[in-house]
Amino acid sequence: MAQPRVFITRRIFPEAVAFLRQSFDVDYEDSDDVLGAEQIAARAAGAQGIICHISHRFDASLIEKLTTVKVIANVAVGYDAIDVKAANKAGIVVTNTPDVLSETSADLAFALLLAAARRIVEAHHFVHSGAWKNWTVDLLAGQDIHGRTLGIVGAGRIGQAVARRGRGFNMQVLYHNSRRLPEAIERELGLTLVSKEELLRESDFVSLNMPLRPETRHFMGAAEFALMKPNAILVNTARGPVVDENAMVEALEKRIIAGAGLDVFENEPKVHPKLLQLDNVVLAPHIASSSVATRRRMSMMAAENVAAVLRGLPPLNPVTVS
Ligand code: DGY
Repeated sequence: MAQPRVFITRRIFPEAVAFLRQSFDVDYEDSDDVLGAEQIAARAAGAQGIICHISHRFDASLIEKLTTVKVIANVAVGYDAIDVKAANKAGIVVTNTPDVLSETSADLAFALLLAAARRIVEAHHFVHSGAWKNWTVDLLAGQDIHGRTLGIVGAGRIGQAVARRGRGFNMQVLYHNSRRLPEAIERELGLTLVSKEELLRESDFVSLNMPLRPETRHFMGAAEFALMKPNAILVNTARGPVVDENAMVEALEKRIIAGAGLDVFENEPKVHPKLLQLDNVVLAPHIASSSVATRRRMSMMAAENVAAVLRGLPPLNPVTVS
């Protein structure tokens, strides 16, 4: 009997490809090209499993064409690019890669927070360009992090990992979430639940860690920036569209807020041209989970999810939406 076929839409870590090749007929797009919906539909014809990245949009019209597919394994925790409802309705299991990337992603959120507050990128360019001539009393003076207030929007696994880092810096940590966390977790992490408005008014640093959903799209707009402190720094490692990028650019230009550390953008990989001109932003190309160990593990998790479903076992990390 022919082996089930797995289509891998883009480059992943080689261990995961080798693992799948042991049991399946693998069609591997061994490149970083982003295939379009038509190419994906054509290559997936006859395949039972698909491994994809966040750069591929699986909307209802593409899913309709995947008539032989039983599982779509996303090499990411965020699955906003996949119409999970349509997939589930078509009998396709969707999986993601939770937990393994939480600490790594929180590390980058904190790195952006530190870099923006302490002006690390400006300092690097200053030294690198030979502009450093002397020690001066306020040279590249930035903001303290310790003892300040950190506001976390979305206190799931990644948000809680950011909170732990905040506590390590002796910060007061506020959170705003769709649901209140169990008291034991609030106590352990020293978290205080507040309204969206209170969080924006009180925080010196705001870290966005919520998923992109219809209700979180443009969670941050002009009205929200107006509530923030003029010294506040926004950190976004969630998804670009949770922020109205035009409103953020205006808030940064007019110094309504002091700065931003951004790993995600509304129209990736395009970056708002004005963000490239501002000196109060630190920018990264959607790399929050990108440590070698974590991205390797994410690749393997996706492969293990595909293998489980194609062997008739329950998926390890299924996602569902209500
Ligand atoms: C995720 O996992 O959702 C990240 O954004 C991609 O690494």
